[in-house]
Amino acid sequence: MNYQIQKFIDPDQIKAKVCEMADQISKDYEGKEILLVGLLKGSVMFVADLARAIDSTKVDVCFDFMTVQSYGNKTTSGEVLIVKDLDEPVAGRHVLIVEDIIDTAKTLYSVKQLFATRNPASFKIATLLDKPERRVKDVKVDYVGFEIPDKFIVGYGIDYAQKYRQLPYIGLVEFTDGE
Ligand code: IMP
Ligand code: MG
Repeated sequence: MNYQIQKFIDPDQIKAKVCEMADQISKDYEGKEILLVGLLKGSVMFVADLARAIDSTKVDVCFDFMTVQSYGNKTTSGEVLIVKDLDEPVAGRHVLIVEDIIDTAKTLYSVKQLFATRNPASFKIATLLDKPERRVKDVKVDYVGFEIPDKFIVGYGIDYAQKYRQLPYIGLVEFTDGE
């Protein structure tokens, strides 16, 4: 299939948005320690930048990573396959899930259910990108960077067939008919 990638959100816009989100997180968690839980692999760039933008004089930041696969069909919604679990314990801690993009929200719905069994002190979700038009599951998202239309996105950690994660900008994949 032929396609081209159009620049959609440039690095300066991403940086400004991540700083804005980090400022809010620094206020909301002042005096506390948070456990940032990055969902691999897409959230890697976002976790790295968000963690560095959180005010270390206000909030202690720990991070950990998890790889999950949502089964994602109607009959098994709510089930999640843990490909890589956390190394850190969760009980009694302030967990902030860091996600790259929310689409149907089936993944986060399952992750939320999973964490509910692990007794964190609090549980919140931050996502850089949100496609509200595609929502299937109702999940409260506490920090949203950009709301975007129902388009296929790559870059800044997000892939198309495992490629383009390294792009410093967020691009739209435009599929073209072709030879
Ligand atoms: P959800 O369970 O439908 O919300 O799935 C969210 C996951 O699907 C994200 O973490 C991404 O891995 C993937 N995803 C959703 N939209 C896109 C996109 O536009 N480009 C690349 N991956 C996407
Ligand atoms: Mg993801």
